[in-house]
Amino acid sequence: MHLRLCTLALALTCATAQAVEPTHQELYSQAQAEQPHYLETLKSLVSVDTGTGTEAGLKQVGAELVKRLEALGAKVTTQPATPSVGDNIVGTFKGNGDKDFLLMVHYDTVFGPGTVAKRPFRIEGERAYGPGVADAKGGVAMILHALKLLQDQQYKGYRTLTVLFNPDEEMGSAGSRQLIAELARQHDFVFSYEPPDKDAVTVATNGINRLKLTVNGRASHAGSAPEAGRNALIELAHQLLQLNALGDKDKGTTVNWTLAKAGEKANIIPALASAEADMRYSDLSETERVQEDALRIIKKQLVADTQVELVMEKGRPPLAKNDASTQLAQTARQLYSKIDRQLQPIAMRFGTDAGYAYLPDSDKPAVLETLGVVGAGLHGDDEYMEIASVAPRLYLTVAMIRQLAQ
Ligand SMILES: *[C@@H]1O[C@H](CO)[C@@H](O)[C@H](O)[C@H]1NC(C)=O
Ligand SMILES: [Zn+2]
Repeated sequence: MHLRLCTLALALTCATAQAVEPTHQELYSQAQAEQPHYLETLKSLVSVDTGTGTEAGLKQVGAELVKRLEALGAKVTTQPATPSVGDNIVGTFKGNGDKDFLLMVHYDTVFGPGTVAKRPFRIEGERAYGPGVADAKGGVAMILHALKLLQDQQYKGYRTLTVLFNPDEEMGSAGSRQLIAELARQHDFVFSYEPPDKDAVTVATNGINRLKLTVNGRASHAGSAPEAGRNALIELAHQLLQLNALGDKDKGTTVNWTLAKAGEKANIIPALASAEADMRYSDLSETERVQEDALRIIKKQLVADTQVELVMEKGRPPLAKNDASTQLAQTARQLYSKIDRQLQPIAMRFGTDAGYAYLPDSDKPAVLETLGVVGAGLHGDDEYMEIASVAPRLYLTVAMIRQLAQ
């Protein structure tokens, strides 16, 4: 393509331009050569406790991330992720193309202070272990080293390349979700770097809601005047049984009652009882459907003179199945096939920040999840990442950006 536009006088420039356009094999080789550096970065990130809310660790790693982004040539801004602890870190690279990319992932973990000391980063065979090694520090390192590869290639074919590292995903992203949605709106493509459990990219994630059920009755002594009481616990039990079928298998919606509380003393008829349910869904209309069904169902009461109330607290929304994400997964698959690898698009039952980036009312951005490192045992003592997945997935990010920016 370059050569066709060349005049004789420009031939030298054009030949140079063409020479730096690497093949897929070359991109993959560069990614393979980057692997030891990736592992060094990962080790340094994993070696600091950054459980959500751990101020010192989040501050230390946050400062490290700012430094690294600046070294890569980004303009970096930070802002406190109030009400969460730690900063949202935004790095911006300006290029000369006309497509905008947002790469994002969280740098908090679920592990409290002292975890690193107990089980530090270690490599055993083909796996690396440590708190957050896959979720999501493996993803943080993936972004940093994909940027490094693009920098080495002197690639500037995007218009804007934005990086967001947030400090509070594991507790619901209260201090970053608004920023995620705002940034997402300004970009054509959003890649999120949670870890997949196999070599896959994710086109759909679940949303999460919480249902809270409260029953008010009337207290009375269970020995001397039980008939004067109105048993909130019995009414709650009745409600739970009739509210246990709110899910919808075909739509992938589950509603499971997971917490309950009632009574204070064995000899008092309980005046108050409450329960909570965990709802997962991927169909956007299900929040309203479940709420309406539940409000209709609770009208059928068992214990007279008790008051039943139900509220739905909306949590992380889903990355609903959509054409733009499916299209992105298709591109990822094609690029993977260039290096003789298979890639499956999957839907996952977790909720992630990709849900905040996906904007159902807009044709922008196209969102793809789990571009991070392959790993398993997330949130547990045996969490690990697969070292063999580093190079192919570094290649994937680099190749995706180069392809989609064209
Ligand atoms: C959880 O909810 C789903 C659907 O709402 C239901 O099919 C499943 O049986 C529930 N699980 C348990 C253990 O009750
Ligand atoms: Zn995560």
